[in-house]
Amino acid sequence: WPFFAPYIKAINDLKEQRNAVILAHNYMTPEIFHCVADKVGDSLQLARLAGETDADVIVQCGVHFMAETSKILNPEKTVLIPDMEAGCSLAESITGADVRLLREAHPGVPIVAYVNTSAEVKAEVDICCTSANAVQVVESLNAPKVILLPDQYLAQYVASQTDVEIITWKGACEVHERFTGEELRAYRESDPNLRIIAHPECPQDVLAEADYTGSTSQMTKWIEDNKPAKVVLVTECSMADNVAADIRDVEFVRPCNLCPHMKRITLAKILDSLVFMREEVEVDPSLIERARASVERMVNLNS
Ligand code: 13P
Ligand code: SF4
Repeated sequence: WPFFAPYIKAINDLKEQRNAVILAHNYMTPEIFHCVADKVGDSLQLARLAGETDADVIVQCGVHFMAETSKILNPEKTVLIPDMEAGCSLAESITGADVRLLREAHPGVPIVAYVNTSAEVKAEVDICCTSANAVQVVESLNAPKVILLPDQYLAQYVASQTDVEIITWKGACEVHERFTGEELRAYRESDPNLRIIAHPECPQDVLAEADYTGSTSQMTKWIEDNKPAKVVLVTECSMADNVAADIRDVEFVRPCNLCPHMKRITLAKILDSLVFMREEVEVDPSLIERARASVERMVNLNS
């Protein structure tokens, strides 16, 4: 990638000067994922890594809620996001006021927020979860009924895996809700040996076709462990690009849906971030402690 080389060198040099770490989500494009990221992972791994780093500056290559989670866990550090507009349809689907109304409507029912939410929402709930641990978090509450918001599809998936009654919200991921069971059945008919692995943000008719459902990093692990000859990754486009670069003997079929928010993060913007120390992510001090309690309860669940 000759065009990228000067950016990659400049970013890696500046990282050292600034004592900065680049945390990148699995949906970053390959030149970010493979050439400038210090650590990569799913939302749960990134939250854990943010809590462990001793860098002075965190450059979050992902969407805003991920950078906010890093800031919540590191209020004393500088957390930068290369594009402040990198949002998420799930995080935008619910407010703190909505959560307060839900709590009033369902007194005594514990509330779990998917990490794909704002700090304001995290401050109102009892615990967070990610796609990697949602079932475990829900069951850890030892309650017959749990509110899991805002992703209706993640909630339906969790409900299918547990006896706990799940109440949810009407949010959806604009990327994963576009996949259909019909399109996956067509792939399967074209090759019966094909393995389908899907993210739990997909609708139920899609998950019904899947051989495995898991978070972005759990998908990678499943492919490494099972080494299928041919696999369909039912998730964001860059995932297959990144995994295919590391796992050479598996053929990837790519029913590709791009996340426009993740794709706002580019090498040029990462370089700008480190040169000008922007865009700095701040969290309202009146929210940070309560939001941190919800994130830490999740992070500490298994550690
Ligand atoms: P993961 O936690 O599985 O990486 O998912 C984050 C996300 O935004 C998926 O759309
Ligand atoms: Fe949000 Fe979906 Fe993009 Fe993930 S893929 S950041 S859930 S809009």
